[in-house]
Amino acid sequence: MSRPDFHIYSVQEACVLFAQHFNLAATAIRLPGERDLNFHMTCEDGTQFIFKIYAPGTDQDWLAAQDQVLDHIARIGGFPVPQLLLSKAGSTTTPITDDDGNRRLLRTLNWIDGTVWAKARESHDLDFAQIGTLLGRLDACMKEFDHPAAHRDFLWDIAQTSKHREFSDLIGDDDVRACVTDILDRFDHGIAEKLAKTPRQVIHNDANDYNLLVDGNLTINGLIDFGDFIETHRICNLAVALAYAMMDQPDPLACAVDIITAYHRVNPLGEDEVAILYDLIACRLAQSACMAAQQYAKEPDNDYLLISQAGVNDLLARMAKLNPAIAHYRFRDACGWEPCPGSRKVVNWLTVNADQIGPVIPQSMDASNLHIVDLNGLSLDPDGKLRPANIVTDAIFAAMDAANAEVGVGKYLENRKVYQGPFFETATRGEWRSLHLGIDLFVPDQTPLFAPLDGVVVVSNDNARDFDYGPIIILEHKTSCGLTFYTKYGHLSRTSLPVSPVGKTVRKGELVGYVGPYPENGNWAPHLHFQIMVDLVGMGADICGVAAASEANVWSSICPNPNLMLGMAIDCQDIVERAPAKITAERSRHLGPNLSISYKKPLKMVRGAGQYLYTDTGEKYLDMVNNVCHIGHSHPRVVAAAARQAAELNTNTRYLHDNIVNYANELVATFPDPLSVCFFVNSGSEANDLALRLAQAYSGRREMLIVDHAYHGNLTSLIDLSPYKFNRKGGKGCPDHVKICPMPDGFRGPIRSDDPECGRKYADLAIDQLRAFEAEGRPPAAFIAESVLGCGGQIFLPDGYLKHIYAAVRASGGLCIADEVQVGFGRVGSHMWGFELQDVVPDIVTLGKPIGNGHPLGAVITTREVANAFYNGMEYFNTFGGNPVSCAIGREVLHVIRDERLQANARIVGDHMMARLREIAARNPLIGEVRGAGLFIGIELVHNLETKEPATEKAGQIANMMKDRNILISTDGPMDNVIKIKPPITFDLDDANTFLGNFEECLALVTP
Ligand SMILES: Cc1ncc(COP(=O)(O)O)c(C=O)c1O
Repeated sequence: MSRPDFHIYSVQEACVLFAQHFNLAATAIRLPGERDLNFHMTCEDGTQFIFKIYAPGTDQDWLAAQDQVLDHIARIGGFPVPQLLLSKAGSTTTPITDDDGNRRLLRTLNWIDGTVWAKARESHDLDFAQIGTLLGRLDACMKEFDHPAAHRDFLWDIAQTSKHREFSDLIGDDDVRACVTDILDRFDHGIAEKLAKTPRQVIHNDANDYNLLVDGNLTINGLIDFGDFIETHRICNLAVALAYAMMDQPDPLACAVDIITAYHRVNPLGEDEVAILYDLIACRLAQSACMAAQQYAKEPDNDYLLISQAGVNDLLARMAKLNPAIAHYRFRDACGWEPCPGSRKVVNWLTVNADQIGPVIPQSMDASNLHIVDLNGLSLDPDGKLRPANIVTDAIFAAMDAANAEVGVGKYLENRKVYQGPFFETATRGEWRSLHLGIDLFVPDQTPLFAPLDGVVVVSNDNARDFDYGPIIILEHKTSCGLTFYTKYGHLSRTSLPVSPVGKTVRKGELVGYVGPYPENGNWAPHLHFQIMVDLVGMGADICGVAAASEANVWSSICPNPNLMLGMAIDCQDIVERAPAKITAERSRHLGPNLSISYKKPLKMVRGAGQYLYTDTGEKYLDMVNNVCHIGHSHPRVVAAAARQAAELNTNTRYLHDNIVNYANELVATFPDPLSVCFFVNSGSEANDLALRLAQAYSGRREMLIVDHAYHGNLTSLIDLSPYKFNRKGGKGCPDHVKICPMPDGFRGPIRSDDPECGRKYADLAIDQLRAFEAEGRPPAAFIAESVLGCGGQIFLPDGYLKHIYAAVRASGGLCIADEVQVGFGRVGSHMWGFELQDVVPDIVTLGKPIGNGHPLGAVITTREVANAFYNGMEYFNTFGGNPVSCAIGREVLHVIRDERLQANARIVGDHMMARLREIAARNPLIGEVRGAGLFIGIELVHNLETKEPATEKAGQIANMMKDRNILISTDGPMDNVIKIKPPITFDLDDANTFLGNFEECLALVTP
């Protein structure tokens, strides 16, 4: 490159200028830059900047426009983009005159300490979704921004792709030139027109892998260089980022999908934008190839230009081999839409017109004549290799004979291990096409096959590769309402091809061909592979019959379940299993975004037994979090009770059934009188909502007294009673009809547990709130409190607390509600119910979580008097509440607690835990307090016993370290510094010791 014709400032000169204009003493390091001079400045206090001395002729207005972009983004906040430093004179851009008399501009931005994405990805697995989230948020933020300078003609604008045609001839490599020409043609013949109809706004336009920085945790901490910003079509921003992100990726589409999913989640895309996205990515690559060729033509000695284009050329070549329709459908899937447009209409047509569809084979399709074939089991030898076709055939037909069935059925979406040749390998390293998109019907070879509907033969071919289809026929069907779809008949005999030549019209019921023998059928056991396709995606006879499991959504949309046409009354569709990361992505597409997931690296649990959970990789975890699977995960007696009753009858409470009365009798028998009336519901929230209705009906009032930091459920009525929600992120504060009593926290609150009057004094604070309501002339309907404050941080109520409050509330005409959703059912060891620790009897008790050991069940237990007050003529109907299956489960849970002596276990193991934890606490100042009863325990961590400064971070670190040791615990409390222990009450002494040993070690590791 020729030397610039203007003054090059030395680092010393840069420091002088910097000090002069920004009043900062700093050292400087020169950074690369094509024409502008860039210096990395480090000040004495360690702050760092990038100091730019622009080349003569730089447009000051253009820099001012960039300043406005950065200013706009900074105002919205939360974006990792550089901030501008104002000069002594208070401006972002400072003009100077250099030694050559040229006018130069100075500008300083804060320094972002990171590694460029392109470098980081050479040695790390990066989370590409971050790019999507960042760009999505940035585009959403820039929607409101505009600047006249952004409205410009710019060759790097994808909308200007056509202008690159004049350079495409300069591309030296024939293959690259051919790819680029093809892309330019596609752009000019449709894409440009479609792009013109998509939304416009100002975009960054250059989120390439050298403009993205990541920190030490591989999290994006910088998007730099706003010099390419432009007003154009919004989708171009994403296309540019994808073009660079996809380079060098083993599965470029999977990487794109991750980014698109994340983008769409924060800034929803339009279907029209996604339809052209794949082409726009290609356009960006084509632009890059053209620009480099033009540059090379000017500087033929600059080989670096060719080297830097290697990634572009490679991706161009790989994209040329990908199927654009599949790419489009994968992108649609990333947005949570129907992947193959029109598929649902075809499914609906086939569903509605089931009676119009004729049989495909002559054998009866009655369920009794069908046998599901265990293809993996029968086809593979002990080493997992495919057995010869004759042996597999004998095994399959013998299994069918044994089941007295004429037809063997191979399932739709079955994940098969029988596809082993290179033919089944995908572009993704390690992934094979294994997911079956058709249904196999194993019948003797030469079985005739019939068209189920009128159609035209569009494929009649011998796919003669080993393990391919052999002879295959595809019919095209058109419905009277204008839908088109296809049916495929694979693994036929060669004699079938002349029966169904391409172009032949076939009537419903007419012969299509015959089931083929091995080896001519591709060398498989004789069977028909029957498949429905809504779109042939340009693949003709090679349309996939098995797909990569990672593309299950796309391919099951292109190829709906063939049983829509076969009409077999059996379960012939397998469950698609996904890797944890795929499940996370899938959740983000189709589930509400407010659902949270535990742990940065989420766990996929596939099995539970007792107090243990097992992941998809077979790792065993000790579960100390789940107070729902109270008597142990998947307790066999509960499973059996559920299955038994579900197999017999499940209906609503308007019919008489033994279960509801047996269960109600046994449940109320665990309560003190006069609590004798049950209402069965489906969750803790429903129970609390009904408790509210009861209290309101009884008192004729609406006002409620609650305890601070409480959580009582997810219904609107209960968010109003839950400071844990209404006083935290997204909450609207305390509603007018609610007053909050302070938590009776004897460790941290104003009254300490060593005060003998602690309970009464906290009760008085609650009664103050009651009096405040009364003073306003609106005494409350009820006081509601958990019997032990769970979300409050495992706070045990001080002696006498409830007694005093209950007396005052009742004297004021209100009711007392005990929320036992977390602590009930013997967890506290010494008693069945937490309120019994306080020696009170509430008017209403609400039950949930453990009541059904995981089955959605809840209950409200109250007095006859309260129940009668609610009986005002309006029926209480609850569709599922109290159904025979739920009652069978609830009753079995009670029986197991009794038969396995689990309440005593909670007491014994809980006492052991408490004793040992107190010993550990005595040795470790990080533990502020240990509190608990039975298997409901809290360990509050503090940095300082005097100030009680919460050790929130340490609590989180310990929870994560314990997870790494296969022990699951959670944290809670207003400061999230309380380690919460509430395992299934089958948790035994060995588990306790395992926990205690590991906990003490982790404690030591986080203690300085
Ligand atoms: C104390 C308490 N009450 C009520 C509920 C609401 O129960 P569910 O989630 O079953 O609706 C919860 C749930 O966490 C709870 O902890």
